[in-house]
Amino acid sequence: MSPAMVGTAAEASDDESQFQKGVKHLCEKAILRVPGKYILPVHERPGRAYGEDAAMRRKLLSLPLIDFAELRSSLDRPRALRSLATACEQYGFFQLVNHGIPDEVISSMIDASTRFFGQPYEERAKYMSSDMTSPVRYGTSFNQSKDKVFCWRDFLKITCEPMPQVLPHWPSSPTDMRRVVASYAKETKYLFLKIMEAILESLGLPLPAPGRGCVAEDGGIMDRLQEGSQMMVTNFYPPCPEPDLTLGMPPHSDYGFLTLLLQDRVPGLQILHGDNWVTVKPIPGSFVVNVGDHLEIFSNGRYKSVLHRVLVNSTESRISVATLHSLPKECSISPALELIDEGNPRRYMDTDFASFLAYISSCEPKKKNFLESRKLSS
Ligand code: OGA
Ligand code: NI
Repeated sequence: MSPAMVGTAAEASDDESQFQKGVKHLCEKAILRVPGKYILPVHERPGRAYGEDAAMRRKLLSLPLIDFAELRSSLDRPRALRSLATACEQYGFFQLVNHGIPDEVISSMIDASTRFFGQPYEERAKYMSSDMTSPVRYGTSFNQSKDKVFCWRDFLKITCEPMPQVLPHWPSSPTDMRRVVASYAKETKYLFLKIMEAILESLGLPLPAPGRGCVAEDGGIMDRLQEGSQMMVTNFYPPCPEPDLTLGMPPHSDYGFLTLLLQDRVPGLQILHGDNWVTVKPIPGSFVVNVGDHLEIFSNGRYKSVLHRVLVNSTESRISVATLHSLPKECSISPALELIDEGNPRRYMDTDFASFLAYISSCEPKKKNFLESRKLSS
């Protein structure tokens, strides 16, 4: 091998290690072009997928609005439940307003996350780990050890339960991070459980008696959700010099029952609605809630876990906070027995978190592959 070739190979591997440090780190060098590592094949780029055009991309979609205060009012609840059912069937997404979580809890979460990502690389890098089971993981792209093309995102994933055991692993800097995350995690968990009660009712499933679960004999789905898994993902998308060439997150569906997403004022989230990618109109302070794979399975396909992705832009950075909720990791998920009959045969095989982790560790989870893999062919 000639000395020149050795030099080239060394440069290439140096570049590769730069990308592993994330997009925030990359952008600190004031780049004018998107490096090749982030450039998607033409048919996967945001301007080209599903035949959309630029005008369509700029048009903002207002998601079906669900008013949590209406869900809590005995007078308004029946109508709110019907809207909830329609939203979960037709969009797989809705926007939750009047949710009752104090503004301060929400603004502190955005603020502490912004300050976390604002820290020097060395501080953030303390939490880098390729171990999928680690209670805290800082990283970049979608699956940074598998992705051929990287996406324009850095993230911090925090396991929220069991809180006494995991909290000591959470980032200790900024100094208020643990307090803010703990309070945000508790509030979103409570809200998730309340939305799930409404979802069960909207599916026509028996409601739990106070202190009791429902559906299954082993304590019921609500009891198991109460002690279930909760993961918080904070996403940071720096401004991108050529946003049409890449994505903040590739098309994916979320694995749990529901995801509660806080997107601030900068648009970026797109959902696949019909055959089109549409950009969701942000409502500051509200939650975008979406049906995950586990709820699609539990509802035997009635509620849809819909593909979504994230656009980046050239002027502003964007932060979002997603909390993903499901059953305890060791529990398996199956369609609710009440939703299966001769006219509605079981459409999914049982699944659990371990099989999901095994699946995403073995391939690039860029499409709705996992859920597809759980479908029973009729
Ligand atoms: C996610 C996600 C969307 C966003 O974290 O799973 O889809 O707008 N995030 O950041
Ligand atoms: Ni998602």
